[in-house]
Amino acid sequence: MRKTASTTAPVHPLLAERWSPRGFDQAHELGDDNLTALLEAARWAPSAQNSQPWRFLVTRRGEPAHGRLFATLASGNQAWAGAASALILAVARTADDDGRPRPWALYDTGQAVAALVTQAQADGLAVHQMGGFDSAAARAEFGLDDTLTPVVVIAIGRRDAAAELPEPLAARETAPRTRHPISDLLLPARTARTPAAA
Ligand SMILES: Cc1cc2nc3c(=O)[nH]c(=O)nc-3n(C[C@H](O)[C@H](O)[C@H](O)COP(=O)(O)O)c2cc1C
Repeated sequence: MRKTASTTAPVHPLLAERWSPRGFDQAHELGDDNLTALLEAARWAPSAQNSQPWRFLVTRRGEPAHGRLFATLASGNQAWAGAASALILAVARTADDDGRPRPWALYDTGQAVAALVTQAQADGLAVHQMGGFDSAAARAEFGLDDTLTPVVVIAIGRRDAAAELPEPLAARETAPRTRHPISDLLLPARTARTPAAA
């Protein structure tokens, strides 16, 4: 099954074909080479002042740390994410060594994750990001200090089209992907002196 993005101009297949499945192959294991490639893709993302504020807590299915990270997920995510080969907690270092805030750390970490996701797509892997997790619990469980902000948990694995999912997740798995039209993304380039409704 494909859920190719419907676009008004061609975009690269790595972007058009990517989507976030919930059906993962629970027998698939994430190899070291695969994992290294994902982390390399993230490592080479751009960041403000090349600060590279992203950190990743990598857990593979079967490891004790995987169970501890899994336990922080919202129940709706626990319904499917345990079958993925790895769960990775993406963390942003939102303050520097002197405690000064790093205003772009979350943005930069998102860019690093986007690069990781695209590399996964290129390598035949599927990724599903989750904001539905208990950030405070993850912070406490893994001893993250105040400079480290948990951002997202990333499920990575091989998609399994035959995986059994409870409703409504099964229906979502086959539903078409949708997006706002480009026109909704564009802000009018008004000046402050231009009346809004002239
Ligand atoms: C920051 C972030 C948080 C998300 N949180 C969840 C989540 O907790 N549970 C879930 O099932 N999907 C989650 N998603 C997946 C989105 O719902 C999904 O990317 C979106 O619906 C678009 O679908 P697509 O990725 O298949 O194009 C999250 C995605 C992102 C980027």
